[in-house]
Amino acid sequence: MYEFAIDTNAPKSDMYRELVQSADALTSTETDSIANMANVAALLWEFLPDVNWTGFYRVVDGELVLGPFQGKAACIRIPFGRGVCGAAAQTGETQLVEDVHAFPGHIACDANSASELVVPVLRDGIVVAVIDLDSPTLNRFDAQDVAGVELLAQRIANRI
Ligand code: SME
Repeated sequence: MYEFAIDTNAPKSDMYRELVQSADALTSTETDSIANMANVAALLWEFLPDVNWTGFYRVVDGELVLGPFQGKAACIRIPFGRGVCGAAAQTGETQLVEDVHAFPGHIACDANSASELVVPVLRDGIVVAVIDLDSPTLNRFDAQDVAGVELLAQRIANRI
């Protein structure tokens, strides 16, 4: 069991520093990518308020395939270029979506989702996975979330 002292009143930047340190510590001595993604998905779920899905899609044979996550069961395969995750995988760029219903091609895995942040995980410049966060609140994610999750993605890129 791992216990994390999460201060819900801490500034978001402090929360992300704690989250990234925790993820770093949990994954630094483990080589199994599924175990590491599973723990990172759980940390995101535990640390982030107001989210209804946190997890990974992995790049497998040129498409995204569902990886470890927390939340409702989700669609399994997503082609590059489709939905928010597919856009992140295709462009290699973070997708911050204030209102998923206004995003062309958004794939609704949970009808409660209203906003979404998808951050690609790059290894040697190649997208190997994406981290997907969904929230039931419109405009839930901001630039601090982008910076925090991008730092997380960099830190774990060689461990998943
Ligand atoms: N909404 C995503 C699909 C994945 S689920 O949110 C877990 C998308 O449009 O790519």
